[in-house]
Amino acid sequence: MRKSLLTLAVGVSLGALTTLAAADEIDYPDGYRSWTHVKSMTIHKGHPLETPFLGIHHVYANERALHGLQSKHFADGAMLVFDQLQSEDAGAASVEGDRVLIGVMLKDNARFPQTNGWGYQAWPKDSRSQRLVDDGGLSCHGCHIQQKDRDYVFSQWRD
Ligand code: HEC
Repeated sequence: MRKSLLTLAVGVSLGALTTLAAADEIDYPDGYRSWTHVKSMTIHKGHPLETPFLGIHHVYANERALHGLQSKHFADGAMLVFDQLQSEDAGAASVEGDRVLIGVMLKDNARFPQTNGWGYQAWPKDSRSQRLVDDGGLSCHGCHIQQKDRDYVFSQWRD
């Protein structure tokens, strides 16, 4: 009995470590600014997503993710980027300020089974080394799960 409990505990903690390692393995999406721009949105004070998404954000898709947005099925290797910038007042306009963070979703069913095949990671400001997601993407996915019918992706493609 004792032995099996211990085995279970080791199994669980190894599982958690595997999850954390998987998120750490997501590479910074070099070159994403040349990918397909999907949409943009400005979140103002008072919006439910104000914390932490206040400001302007643009969504980018690599080729596989673009195909996924169009077909509503995302193949392994599909990657989406959430590029968040400060919004600055410029007269009667809002313009891009400094980058706040970039968030990434990478589809890989084998690597990210606990988050329905999506790996999540984020990098603050212009850093390519400091990573913000340290829970295997569970907190990110906890919100994206609302979009189950669209393979956990909020953004939609328009012609
Ligand atoms: C409280 C809800 C919530 C949480 C938590 C959240 N997101 Fe999102 N995310 C959204 C919404 C809403 C959008 C769509 C924004 C739009 O329509 O422009 C989005 C969009 C995205 C996109 C673009 C693809 C898509 O689904 O539209 C990526 C990439 C992304 N989020 C990554 C992350 C990462 C990484 C985390 C964790 C660090 C995270 N998200 C946490 C709500 C959330």
